[in-house]
Amino acid sequence: MESYQRITNGSRVLAKGRDRLPDYRLFFPSAPVGKTILDIGCNVGFFPLQAAAEGAKCAVGLDRDRNVIRCAQGHRDTLKLPNAHFYVHDIQSPWRFAHYDVVLCLNVLHHLPEIEDIRRALAWVDACAIERIVVASPIPKDGAPWSRERQHKRRIALGEAFFRQLWPSYDIRVYPTASKPNSRHCIEVRK
Ligand SMILES: C[S@@+](CC[C@H](N)C(=O)[O-])C[C@H]1O[C@@H](n2cnc3c(N)ncnc32)[C@H](O)[C@@H]1O
Repeated sequence: MESYQRITNGSRVLAKGRDRLPDYRLFFPSAPVGKTILDIGCNVGFFPLQAAAEGAKCAVGLDRDRNVIRCAQGHRDTLKLPNAHFYVHDIQSPWRFAHYDVVLCLNVLHHLPEIEDIRRALAWVDACAIERIVVASPIPKDGAPWSRERQHKRRIALGEAFFRQLWPSYDIRVYPTASKPNSRHCIEVRK
């Protein structure tokens, strides 16, 4: 089965899919040695697995799809990364078990139906993030704080202004994603 993310073990391909390493390097230009990381909407686990391989103290991935979580757990075992953990969890409920240095929310918030669902999810994400939150999102039309996406009208695109209104005291940096620079951007929030 082709997944959203490519996972490799040396030259062996464990899961076919997109190479997410260029995006990972935007968020972690240097290895996250000793850091704790939470990835919400982790799919088959590329970001937590890479962080665990680079020396993260603990890298946790959450996804509502139990099939991708089973795959991620299998890759973790194959790659022998006991510092990576994967759980079935929906972002619409708070994850109350720990705090993390870095929380990733990549290409997942636009799956929520309403802007109020996104605000509620970001409230608990904020509560469990210690240093940084990184969101990857479709880019809204005409610099609006948020808007429904052009292509998938039900999906919500989030802009820089949305985050500046939500978190006026945090340091916010916006840059294009490596994988889809014209249609998706990263909003990196430092607390
Ligand atoms: C487009 S993929 C992005 C995967 C990964 N974050 C990345 O950027 O490579 C979206 C992922 O979010 C998960 N997802 C969608 N809605 C979710 C929700 N409400 N709670 C948790 N995960 C969700 C999907 O199962 C899927 O694995």
